[in-house]
Amino acid sequence: MNAIETHELSKSFHGLNAVDHLDLRVPEGSIYGFIGENGSGKSTAEKLICGLLVPSGGSISLYGRPHTDPVIRSQIGLLIENPGCFPNSTVYQNLLMQALNLDLRRPQEEVGRVLKLVSLVSAAGRRYKDCSLGMKQRLGVAQALLGHPRLLILDEPINGLDADGIRIVRETLIELNRSEGVTVLISSHILGELSKIATHYGILRAGALIRQTPASALSAECRDFVAVKTDDDPRAQAILRSRYSQVEPQDGVIRVYDETDSSSVSGFLHQHGVGVAEISYQTIGLEEYYLQIMSHQTQESRHA
Ligand SMILES: Nc1ncnc2c1ncn2[C@@H]1O[C@H](COP(=O)(O)OP(=O)(O)OP(=O)(O)O)[C@@H](O)[C@H]1O
Ligand SMILES: [Mg+2]
Repeated sequence: MNAIETHELSKSFHGLNAVDHLDLRVPEGSIYGFIGENGSGKSTAEKLICGLLVPSGGSISLYGRPHTDPVIRSQIGLLIENPGCFPNSTVYQNLLMQALNLDLRRPQEEVGRVLKLVSLVSAAGRRYKDCSLGMKQRLGVAQALLGHPRLLILDEPINGLDADGIRIVRETLIELNRSEGVTVLISSHILGELSKIATHYGILRAGALIRQTPASALSAECRDFVAVKTDDDPRAQAILRSRYSQVEPQDGVIRVYDETDSSSVSGFLHQHGVGVAEISYQTIGLEEYYLQIMSHQTQESRHA
């Protein structure tokens, strides 16, 4: 079952579609990385899903039920933009107020649990206004985790975090996902980090999805390759093609995608009298994949 399913979901502001006929499919138990340039509609889509905005068109279902269902809504933990906190209250008090608002059974215990999860125990007595940006962000994640939500919607939760903060959030999300089956919709511009946890991706552009894929399918597309620069690239290409089936020139180098390694490729070129200037083994990460898709899209829209 899908934890989140939207059908032709749209939201316009002053006649402009921030979310445009969006068909999102977030499988239950996934960590869904939501990617897109600034203004592509990620936060707006997340607000629609959480019921913080009313759609202009289309529908949203959560676990097969309308997103307005109060039972389902009580199972969502969210962090969208800034956490809503009282500046003069402490980290602990802010969490406790929220736990009481949510009518949780053992509020103090629950606050203790989430403080531990995000490693904020030592900052529990600090007033919100005296917290660093990273602490505030972790407090926002802690708020989202109150009450053991089944679905987490986190808008840029690792923005402003230091390396340790990022690791803490990453490990917490992985643990909750694996041990409690929590589904996570997470938007982030830090693609290298996202690629460490995401099981699925959705790439948004101008309010619509341009790609929605399991991470496993993406790794198949993100092939490793040997990149080689030679003293005679046209000849090197012809020679390499006599042995390898996937030889492609790109960005001033020749890429060999066949299963091989740098020394075999350079040895083969040397045998045929071609000098190798540079050679390396490379992987296409999420970042390069994303940039390639975006540049194809830009070219297509120019030609349309
Ligand atoms: N309340 C609003 N009123 C008017 N326009 C809005 C409002 N909220 C968002 N928009 C517009 O909707 C579009 C999508 O914005 P949104 O914040 O959803 O993008 P985003 O993908 O989250 O961007 P970012 O990566 O910068 O966070 C933008 O053009 C934005 O200016
Ligand atoms: Mg946003």
